[in-house]
Amino acid sequence: MSPTKASARSEIGGAGKKFPLLSSALKIGSMTLSNRMIMGSMHTRMETMDRPLEREIAFYEARARGHIGMIVSGGFAPNSQGLIDPGCFIMNDGIDKGYHQELTSAVKQHGVRFVAQLLHAGRYAKIDDSVAPSALKAPINSRMPRALPTKEVWETIADFTCAALKAKECGYEGIELMGSEGYLINQFLSPRTNHRDDEFGGSWENRQRFLLEIVRSIRAAAGDDFPIMCRMSMLELVDGGMPQREILELAQALQENGVNSLTSGIGWHESRVPTVAQVTPRAAFKREIAAVKAVVDIPVIATNRINTPEVGEAILEEGVADAVYMARPMLADPDFARKVLHGNEKLINVCIACNQACLDHIFVSKVPTCLVNPRAAREVDFPEGKTDKPENIAVVGGGVAGMVFAMEAADRGHSVTLFEQGNSLGGLLNLAKVIPSKGEFNDFIRYLSERLLETGVNVRLGERATPALLEDYERIVIATGVAPRIPEIEGIDHPSVVTYEDVLTGKMTPGRRVAVIGAGGIGFDTAEFLLSGGGGEYANREDYAKEYGLADNADVSGGFQPDAAMAPKIQREIFLLQRSEGRLGKTLSITTDWIKRTRFAKSGVQMRSGVDYRRIDDKGLHITVNGIDETLVVDTVVICAGQIAETSLEKPLRASGKTINMIGGALFATELDAQRAVDEATRLALSI
Ligand SMILES: Cc1cc2nc3c(=O)[nH]c(=O)nc-3n(C[C@H](O)[C@H](O)[C@H](O)COP(=O)(O)O)c2cc1C
Ligand code: SF4
Repeated sequence: MSPTKASARSEIGGAGKKFPLLSSALKIGSMTLSNRMIMGSMHTRMETMDRPLEREIAFYEARARGHIGMIVSGGFAPNSQGLIDPGCFIMNDGIDKGYHQELTSAVKQHGVRFVAQLLHAGRYAKIDDSVAPSALKAPINSRMPRALPTKEVWETIADFTCAALKAKECGYEGIELMGSEGYLINQFLSPRTNHRDDEFGGSWENRQRFLLEIVRSIRAAAGDDFPIMCRMSMLELVDGGMPQREILELAQALQENGVNSLTSGIGWHESRVPTVAQVTPRAAFKREIAAVKAVVDIPVIATNRINTPEVGEAILEEGVADAVYMARPMLADPDFARKVLHGNEKLINVCIACNQACLDHIFVSKVPTCLVNPRAAREVDFPEGKTDKPENIAVVGGGVAGMVFAMEAADRGHSVTLFEQGNSLGGLLNLAKVIPSKGEFNDFIRYLSERLLETGVNVRLGERATPALLEDYERIVIATGVAPRIPEIEGIDHPSVVTYEDVLTGKMTPGRRVAVIGAGGIGFDTAEFLLSGGGGEYANREDYAKEYGLADNADVSGGFQPDAAMAPKIQREIFLLQRSEGRLGKTLSITTDWIKRTRFAKSGVQMRSGVDYRRIDDKGLHITVNGIDETLVVDTVVICAGQIAETSLEKPLRASGKTINMIGGALFATELDAQRAVDEATRLALSI
């Protein structure tokens, strides 16, 4: 099944020769994929927006035009109880076949395989009548599910079968059963959530029955040629989850019962081990996926944190899997596969696993998009094409907003000069990239720099823009960013006081005991930096496995031992403080803030809210919390108390009657937000 380098090269000729395995064809059952890059399933909730069909066609067709080998749709519920949340599609008799036939035709005309995923949310459903194998509440859902009576289990199997047939009628070329991540099928498989005593619970044989009956029933109804893929948990990462022995047996049973390929699923949504954030190493789960591949002959598809062609090609070359499944990377760059096939991999806009605009949106029932690509799932809102009034534009500031605007405006046919007073591009992203969990921001700077070159922007580094220098430009875009805000506290000019900028640029090295004033995003990031003494490198599997207690022993239930998890090595003692009352970091990302909190708790970071800062002197930082005075004996006080916009150019330029636009931090400094900066800069460029 695995391609060899030599056979792959002869199949694809010159194009894609740097990544011959990714570029080679693959058969899944009766279906042939032109390459081994698969767009992973992502439920976008676009069906809940206005003009849903137009939006879905634009979204999926952009990826199909980008030559991805196969697209797996977002999960469709097989019945109303399987909905993740209300308003999403149910693949049953009520489905609008015309809608889906139009969508599938639009995708398939590009030679891309299109498969429907069937996902029953079980106890993760955010609906009133949610169901599960047993009445056990999920730790991440406030609703108590009802245990399915045996008769309803058989009805649910019939609903899956009906859903597969409907998907076929709608033009989908196969189905993927979602059997991992803690959804209903996974809930039946695992003793953690299956406490039944009928034929669907108890013994391992009984726990497998629900999934195997679904497979047998679909195979019988849809015929031998209909591709059935199954996403199965290859590492559970929950207490009471399947041990590896059961996982391998399940893989073999699925193959024997007619499943055509196995896609990996890693961890449950309720796992307390990060599986998709930046702290998760790229391709972290090769070991578990390779173990499954070793016991089956059908194609195995690897998932999670495969975000560059180098990582993907290595997975195939090492024989870990037969194809790679990339979800968020396809939000970040719809042309990922085309760039790989045509040797333009340097121009790939890499998913940096920030989760800020995708998973953080989906978990609060919003339509996702992408921080590095604001067009994702908003394609119809971003017009394409060249301007009919080219302008001579100066952009002041080479941070993220300035770079994005310059590249987009140049793409539209404007003549663009970018002034940056420092000696490098990237602005505050250069501070972000040194945070241990944010090193991949560097990939975004690299991508934008490549695109500035490609689009012919005239970049003038080390040059401070003055009104005189900007005289000849028709339009000036001010993207000069922010400076740290210095709060009024007695002793703020004490030598122990530094700003986050001083620390993250390496200008100042704080002492061993540090107080961080301000617990917004920058305060949390700075505390993380101070704890580890630096960062910015890609996470590696060995450290990750130690920190989260991944098990070496195949018999360990769930594949991890929380008690074996080790506290990260710490460099400093930290106090993280905020003036406002309540939980620290309330505005941080839902999918990643718990990772930081856990790390901080293990590292003994002391967090205080409702802090009144009284004075800083040689003894340290004097504070009052709940009416009690305290002196924090610290060597360094780091100020992370927000920022102020740097707008000194605005007044003189406006006075001279120039057309000016402000973007990014220069426009709105309160909460630094790269997603807003990228979106704003793109929209401005497309409006002129
Ligand atoms: C917005 C969004 C929606 C998702 N919806 C689904 C889904 O419906 N079914 C599914 O199996 N996985 C879903 N996933 C998970 C992805 O398929 C994938 O497992 C995960 O993002 C890790 O892979 P990646 O690093 O390539 O993104 C979703 C992910 C995102 C970002
Ligand atoms: S928002 Fe971040 S994690 Fe999500 S797709 Fe974009 S870059 Fe990747």
